[in-house]
Amino acid sequence: MHYFLYKDGELFCEDVSVKTIAKKVGTPFYIYSYKTLTRHFSVFDDAFKKIPHLICYSCKANANVALLSVIRKLGGGADIVSGGELFKALHAGIQGNKIVFSGVGKTKEEIQFAIQSKILMLNIESEGEIEVIRDVAKDMKQKIPISIRVNPEIDPKTHPYITTGLKRNKFGILWTDALRLYKNIAKDPFLLPVGISSHIGSQILEIEPFVEAVKCLKKMFFKLKRTGISLRYIDIGGGLGITYKDELPPSPREYARAIARILKSTGLTLILEPGRILVGNSGIFITKLLYVKRTPEKNFYIVDGAMNDLVRPAFYNAYHEIVPVIESTNNQHIKVDVVGPICESGDFFAKDRKLPSLTPGHLIAILGAGAYGFSMSSNYNSRRRVAEVLVKDRDFYIIRKRESLKDLLRGESIPSFLEV
Ligand code: LLP
Repeated sequence: MHYFLYKDGELFCEDVSVKTIAKKVGTPFYIYSYKTLTRHFSVFDDAFKKIPHLICYSCKANANVALLSVIRKLGGGADIVSGGELFKALHAGIQGNKIVFSGVGKTKEEIQFAIQSKILMLNIESEGEIEVIRDVAKDMKQKIPISIRVNPEIDPKTHPYITTGLKRNKFGILWTDALRLYKNIAKDPFLLPVGISSHIGSQILEIEPFVEAVKCLKKMFFKLKRTGISLRYIDIGGGLGITYKDELPPSPREYARAIARILKSTGLTLILEPGRILVGNSGIFITKLLYVKRTPEKNFYIVDGAMNDLVRPAFYNAYHEIVPVIESTNNQHIKVDVVGPICESGDFFAKDRKLPSLTPGHLIAILGAGAYGFSMSSNYNSRRRVAEVLVKDRDFYIIRKRESLKDLLRGESIPSFLEV
């Protein structure tokens, strides 16, 4: 469900025409719908209303500070993976006690920052990390709330690049080591075991892998209880998939029902780290058709957006729906590769896609681009990162300016011996 719809043959986001925004900000750019994001959050939150829970939005999906502010306003917290994300979440007004910190490579400085910000818990992913957290905690004379991210060895049957809960993945602590480590943590005067976590992967389309993971965590929770270690939080990560093409992911309600059933008897507070399900279909990417190139082999729509702006097709061969901003009146279609200007054959948004026959100047919308779109963008080919716009009802707000040419030089300098 989203609020990107055609009205009289023209694509709108809520009550604003995409063409109007393009006139104001130029192309390419991202648009997010406030109403869609709010709705996704509320549906997800509501699904879990029967059990104590906290939604810690996974900032990596899209860390624009305006969107983080929407999450804060709705009562959500944040799942962060770097000091940068912590900085942005705090800047958006998300309180430390609603922030959880995952990630295999937290630096000492990031750990200090997290402790100063009094975050809810650090999800630790290796034995080495426990040592570093302990040293920092000792220096700061504080007792730190810890959760172990266990690796439940479950195959979520998703793209191999976004599978995280298998033995061969770098994430989490092996199931078999967790009990021993919890016991060590519990004995430590500077560490406080408060939770148990897992995140098995992303764009997961079945309930079963989640159920298996939650059962694993619950088993460990009771095992720990018997040894006198009682936890407060169970963090099951994110990962619920969305529809990009014809996928049929479980609804938040089905997902919640299956999980709540397992956790009923525990008295634990559930922490959720959804990313894609909240923002994925809340955002689209708008790009302009520059050239139509026909070769004996293929037809190309060459557009002004590129893989540096939205890398998912290039990186994961991901499918994104592509539609014209102005519905075409003729019924002619052609099979095209939609490609960008970057000097890589991997710079494509779609291959052999049947699209309406369009001419240069037409605007094209790439749907389902709200998650892992802008957040994975780069300056490759010295391209300026694009503008982002938030629409609410009849109004739109530029929530990130397009970078200027000068921005491309920010932080760089020419050594004196090379000066012109
Ligand atoms: N929690 C942890 C610890 C994570 O690593 C992730 C995502 C999430 C939560 C949120 O997962 P979600 O609900 O969004 O599935 N760039 C890839 C996705 C990478 C996901 C990484 N971790 C993509 O574009 O598909």
